[in-house]
Amino acid sequence: MSALAQEHQAINLGQGFPDFACDPALVDAVSRAMQAGHNQYPPMAGVPALREAVAAKIAALYGHVYDPGTEITITAGATQAILTSILALVHPGDEVVVLEPCYDSYGPNIELAGGRIRRVPLTPGSFRPDFALIAAAIGPRTRAIIVNSPHNPSATVWSHTDMERLAALLRPTNVLVIADEVYEHMVFDGELHQSVARHPELAARSVLISSFGKTFHVTGWKVGYAAAPASLMAEFRKVHQFNVFTVNTPVQHALAAFMADPRPYLGLPAYYAAKRDRFRAGLERTALRALPSEGSYFQCVDYADLPEHLDRDEFGFCHWLTTEVGVAAIPLSAFYADGFEQRVVRLCFAKQDATLDAALARLTARL
Ligand SMILES: Cc1ncc(COP(=O)(O)O)c(C=O)c1O
Repeated sequence: MSALAQEHQAINLGQGFPDFACDPALVDAVSRAMQAGHNQYPPMAGVPALREAVAAKIAALYGHVYDPGTEITITAGATQAILTSILALVHPGDEVVVLEPCYDSYGPNIELAGGRIRRVPLTPGSFRPDFALIAAAIGPRTRAIIVNSPHNPSATVWSHTDMERLAALLRPTNVLVIADEVYEHMVFDGELHQSVARHPELAARSVLISSFGKTFHVTGWKVGYAAAPASLMAEFRKVHQFNVFTVNTPVQHALAAFMADPRPYLGLPAYYAAKRDRFRAGLERTALRALPSEGSYFQCVDYADLPEHLDRDEFGFCHWLTTEVGVAAIPLSAFYADGFEQRVVRLCFAKQDATLDAALARLTARL
């Protein structure tokens, strides 16, 4: 969709990345780290100061204390952390429960490890987890479940009760949790992010994964981290050592320095909620129906009230939107292995207000 957007000069609300600059202080910090000579390989697990900063942040926000020496590894983005977790923990023939719709790397990663994917749909319409279906998917071969909250693409957020139910479900099993928490700092309306690190029972069986790219508006830097109990992290590092080995040194030093001030990430819910509200207010002037957006920087819309588009599948609708209206979106069907259709498409509001307003003007003119 990004290529199509470019070809048709569409405003790209498809792919999830900010179109605004990161804090200049962060760029300065990278440049300072380079000038200070931090340009060679760092330790395999990551620059100690950054691992310490991550441990301190998790302890302050969620209450779980990870040992930066043995329980935290800096990765080349969350995508690498997810792949590494799966390659380290999933063995040929193991099953991994994946809740659909989901981020597109999970399935291929499980297949690379020789695992089998057990797909469980989130409830169509609400995208809430259906614990009866999840329970039915868990069996003797289940090695892990991947949980993503705040959720891409649906923008739903798991509640404390959801996490309690997950913990109860897994209690009699040895099933591990791969917790994709890349949007951890984008939870709106006063709700709390329910990290696995808030739930001791879940933390004991989880790899928690996050992304500096999402948190600090630098998706192109591809730096993230994984945190897990030492026994799991030891396995994680065996894979990390022989595929990535180490991650960009000056960026790690810069992030460590930048994280001394928590305000940039503590301010993110208000920052993105304002964009969400601006975008949703504009969408109300169209015939698109905005689904709830509780977290992340995505807004799903339903086009079921547009009779002239009912014969279009989601891809067809996104194609029309991109080429005819000039706004790119992503079909939800792209997040399902079987291409499940529900007349819902995903838009990204991590954009300058001017970009959102320009997109809304185009949408209002045609819908
Ligand atoms: C749910 C989810 N997980 C992981 C990632 C990847 O994060 P990173 O850019 O740090 O690899 C994304 C990025 O879109 C995502 O939406």
